[in-house]
Amino acid sequence: PEAGPDPAALLGWYDAHRRTLPWRAPPGAPADPYRVWLSEIMLQQTTVTAVQPFYARFLARFPDVNSLASAPAEAVMQAWAGLGYYSRARNLHACARTVVAEHGGAFPASLDGLLALPGVGPYTAAAVGAIAFDLPAAAVDGNVERVISRIYRVEEPLPGAKPRIRALTQALVPALRPGDFAQAMMDLGAMICTPRRPACGVCPWMGSCAARAAGDAETFPRKAPK
Ligand code: ADE
Repeated sequence: PEAGPDPAALLGWYDAHRRTLPWRAPPGAPADPYRVWLSEIMLQQTTVTAVQPFYARFLARFPDVNSLASAPAEAVMQAWAGLGYYSRARNLHACARTVVAEHGGAFPASLDGLLALPGVGPYTAAAVGAIAFDLPAAAVDGNVERVISRIYRVEEPLPGAKPRIRALTQALVPALRPGDFAQAMMDLGAMICTPRRPACGVCPWMGSCAARAAGDAETFPRKAPK
């Protein structure tokens, strides 16, 4: 590899190839924290493809945090029906009520504030913080673990390698556009750096990928034997 992966090269790729998804604001437009948070909760255990129709329907029914907070639990469960993992819906409702009751209806704009909300763990706090508030946080999901483990040829298997991968990702987060960087990493993992047959020839980071250089990208991330 020539040099470390350049965040600016990834952002340039994202500007040209980013997926149009219903929770993404148009380029340059400010993100709505409620919409970002809702999408990240739905995407916790459900695929992008499956979430999209539910997201649109849910947002039409509950367009902002006040409408969700003031709704009866049964109405929320009904709008969630089909997405599964119903504890997410209960936490979602509790979170909306907390945002209204304790934060005046505005999502907290800090990682600690986000982490304190019901249903918001380290991944979701980082994703919402970066995407909605441009906090320089690393949102590391399975896609990002795959990308980073290949770029650096991380030999340690998952899950032990998680802290190392988190630190490597954090070190790449740019001060400008950290939210776009987070979503660019997700898109790279979904579109280029796929589990099987990654499209290394069109990857914006192909020149700085250790696994690509070694010809064994598909063998990463390493996984501990079960
Ligand atoms: N998976 C989780 N969050 C996502 C996002 N904001 N965009 C695309 N895929 C995601």
